[in-house]
Amino acid sequence: MPATLRSRRSCLAVPGSNPRMLEKAQTLPADQVFLDLEDSVAPSAKRDARGHVVAALTEGDWSGKVRVVRVNDLTTPWAYRDVIEVVEGAGERVDCLMLPKVVSPAHVQWLDLLLTQIEQAMALDVGRIGIEAQIESAAGLVAVDEIAASSPRLETIVFGPADFMASINMRSLAVGAPHPDYPGDPYHYVLMRILMAARTHDLQAIDGPYLQIRDVDGFREVARRSALLGFDGKWVLHPGQIDAANEVYAPAQEDYDHAELVLDAYGYYTSEKGGARGAVMLGDEMIDEASRKMALVVAAKGRAAGLRRTKTFEPPQD
Ligand code: GLV
Ligand code: MG
Repeated sequence: MPATLRSRRSCLAVPGSNPRMLEKAQTLPADQVFLDLEDSVAPSAKRDARGHVVAALTEGDWSGKVRVVRVNDLTTPWAYRDVIEVVEGAGERVDCLMLPKVVSPAHVQWLDLLLTQIEQAMALDVGRIGIEAQIESAAGLVAVDEIAASSPRLETIVFGPADFMASINMRSLAVGAPHPDYPGDPYHYVLMRILMAARTHDLQAIDGPYLQIRDVDGFREVARRSALLGFDGKWVLHPGQIDAANEVYAPAQEDYDHAELVLDAYGYYTSEKGGARGAVMLGDEMIDEASRKMALVVAAKGRAAGLRRTKTFEPPQD
C-alpha cells in the first residue's frame, strides 16, 4: 500500500518489554501498532525488550496493521542498537521506525543512513522501511519544516504532547487535554504548525496520546479537535480508545459517499461526453477543480478506512 494511503486512524502503543501485551495487540482493531522501546520501557528492561519485539514481529500475526517500532532517541546509548537489532532481526516485517524527540533534520538523516546500511547488508529492499518523526519540544517544533523535508523515508510527523508540555513548561492538569482556565485551545498552534509542515511534504500528521485512558468521552473530544483540523489519526494507549479513534478519524459515511459522487460527477462533466465543462452542478452544489481536490482527500481516507459507497452517480440520459 503506498505510504500516504496507509490508514493510521488509531496508532496503538505497546510496551516492547511486555510479551503478554505484544500478543494481545495483534488481536485488536488498531490501524497501526507501535512496539515501543522508548518511554514505556524501563532502562533496565531496554535490552531484553529488543528481543521481545523481534520475536513478536517474526512470530506474530500482524496482518492488516501498519507495523512500527519506536526506538530510543539520539541522546541515549540505546538508539543505534535498537535500530540494528530490530532491522537485522525482523527488517522484512517492519513498516516504519519511529524516532522520538527529533529536533533537527540530522536526526532523521542519521536514521535514514543507518537503515540504508543495514538494508544493504541484509539484502533487504533499500528504502522500504519508513520513518515517523516525533515532535516533542520547542526546538523540534521550530525546526519542523526542515525535519519534514529531511528524508524520502518520512511518512508521518507525530505530536508528542507529554514531552512537549514539559519542554515548554505548559501548565496543564492532564496530558493532551485542554486546561479549564485557558480561554482557548492551548494545542491549536502546535497542531497547526505540525499539520502545515506535514502537508507541505505530503506526510501524514498524527496526534499524540491522551493519558486519561478511562475517559473515552474526553478522548473523543480531543481527537475530534485534531481530526477537524485535518489530522490523520491519534495514538491510543488502551484498547478502549481504539473504536473512538477509528470512528473520529474516518470520514462519516455521508461525507464519504458525497466525495465519491463529486469525483464521478466531475469526471463525467469534464469529459468530452459530459460536455467538457469546468464548473458544474451536482444537485444544488456547484463543483469545480477545488471540489475535486477536497473530495480526493475524503475519498482516500474513506477507502483506506474500508468504507463502502452506498450511492452511485447516474449520468443524465441523452
Ligand atoms: C509521547 O511520546 C509524548 O511525549 O506525548
Ligand atoms: Mg514522548
